[in-house]
Amino acid sequence: MDKSYFGTYHHTTFEESERMRETAKEMFMEAFKRILDSNADLQIIDVGCGLGFLTILTASYFPRATITCVDVFTQSSLRENSRDILENNLRIAQVLDRVKIVEADVTEILPPGKFDLAVSNLVLHNLGRKRFVAYRNIHDVLKPGSYFVNADGFIKKSLFVDPFRDDMKRISDIFHVDFVIKPETQGLFFKYILVALKSK
Ligand SMILES: C[S@@+](CC[C@H](N)C(=O)[O-])C[C@H]1O[C@@H](n2cnc3c(N)ncnc32)[C@H](O)[C@@H]1O
Repeated sequence: MDKSYFGTYHHTTFEESERMRETAKEMFMEAFKRILDSNADLQIIDVGCGLGFLTILTASYFPRATITCVDVFTQSSLRENSRDILENNLRIAQVLDRVKIVEADVTEILPPGKFDLAVSNLVLHNLGRKRFVAYRNIHDVLKPGSYFVNADGFIKKSLFVDPFRDDMKRISDIFHVDFVIKPETQGLFFKYILVALKSK
């Protein structure tokens, strides 16, 4: 294939997934601008990289960075998930030489390292209560004071409970919420939010 293909997310059509990627692109670009110099020589980890949409966005924004991208490569939350398609996308974007692909489960163990930045898009909400293990594992591979920029769907089970605040309270010993970016329009039960967490 000579054209990039980033797949269809769970519970959406391909067109809806493309619109979410447009929104994600705007939010991540704004967040990156606020936290780091684009010319910095960084070690970055992308958690739940799938077919590499965020890996490529990040690698393009930080042309001197090296990126480790991690995924379990099963098809549960991304129907067409495949390491071959990921590699092909990275090759088309001309970033393959700066990306290391690692098959790992974020709720088990992440590749060792001390990263300057962690990024993730639409991953942790899939993990149920185990997302709190994931937050801790991500924290443990970050240098102190570094950011975890996470865009995710915080799913409302009730209109009276704010799941985002609840999550942030539970990880307040390891991360401080530096800022949040919210798209202009939101679904009623699925709040898509980017949160820039600074590791303690
Ligand atoms: C909705 S997709 C998002 C993919 C990519 N981040 C993007 O923005 O296009 C969620 C990804 O998380 C991965 N994932 C789910 N559970 C995981 C786990 N426990 N450890 C690592 N990756 C996981 C899935 O395999 C899938 O590729």
